[in-house]
Amino acid sequence: MTTAPEADTTAEPAGAAEVTDEHLARALGLRVCDLPALRDLTAKVAAAPGGPPLRLRDLLHRRLRSAVCDDMLDPRALLSARPREAEPAALDGRPAVPLPEPEPLPGITLADAVERRSSATTYAPRPLPLTALAALLEGAAGIRGRRPGYNVRDFPVRRAPSAGGLAPVDVYVVANDVTGLDRGLYCYRPGGRELTVVDSGNMRGKVTEAGIAADWLFHAPAVLFLALNMGRVEWKYGVRSYRYAHVDLGVLTQNLYLVATGLGLAGCAVAAFDDDTANDLLRLDGRDEFVSLLFACGLPAGR
Ligand SMILES: Cc1cc2nc3c(=O)[nH]c(=O)nc-3n(C[C@H](O)[C@H](O)[C@H](O)COP(=O)(O)O)c2cc1C
Repeated sequence: MTTAPEADTTAEPAGAAEVTDEHLARALGLRVCDLPALRDLTAKVAAAPGGPPLRLRDLLHRRLRSAVCDDMLDPRALLSARPREAEPAALDGRPAVPLPEPEPLPGITLADAVERRSSATTYAPRPLPLTALAALLEGAAGIRGRRPGYNVRDFPVRRAPSAGGLAPVDVYVVANDVTGLDRGLYCYRPGGRELTVVDSGNMRGKVTEAGIAADWLFHAPAVLFLALNMGRVEWKYGVRSYRYAHVDLGVLTQNLYLVATGLGLAGCAVAAFDDDTANDLLRLDGRDEFVSLLFACGLPAGR
């Protein structure tokens, strides 16, 4: 009887090519000329046993420095630049629900709004009025005017500032209990002041599944999913867009908090969510478009 030869565990897997500097740089999203700095950083860490290990953040932060990001648009090219789609184009032509005239924002002082703002994870078991949802969306993420920009006459100016005004955050709404709105998933389209229908039906279970240890999401009358559309900014800011886009998302989130406070709504940002589940729910590819934060809201509990 013959025995099979033992597998050589030291051998390279069949078909594995030698990893060259070009391969390594490409896989890490670096340039070959970045590798010496990476090796230097790695050597320093290796030479200091017991010292802090090299973290992914060190690599990212080093890579996204302005001095290294050489794929930003040359300012001269802006003279002939055209803006990209400002809203998810894939949803064009789908049925949409026009938003009603929003509730007017109450004239509370900025000091009051900042002072009263807080996060709330319990909500009254009553529907969120669509006029309040419209006021939240319009007040935090709506278009407040148009002016010349990027070689068009009517470039939209939003209520939330963003790097270059490029507004990379798309707001999707899961309506669980909103007056006058069928349960389902919608995409807020500020240009037409409407909610485009993405999916219909009861999404409470799916939203709760997307949250991590956030069962309270099941009871939220509405859950906003804030998704980043990287193509909208990368043509101008290159890889550094990853930093800017998250700042833009934070700015919009604070707008949501302050406008919700003004409207007397309860809300809470949620970073603890499962990326794949959330992206699948919104039908985003998770690469060029991906969910980066949730914001649950409703009428405050106990009132
Ligand atoms: C970016 C961000 C992510 C957050 N993620 C969560 C979360 O996943 N779950 C949660 O219960 N609260 C979350 N919160 C709410 C914070 O816990 C809350 O803001 C913090 O405790 C301070 O309380 P305050 O908002 O009432 O001042 C988040 C807040 C922010 C700004």
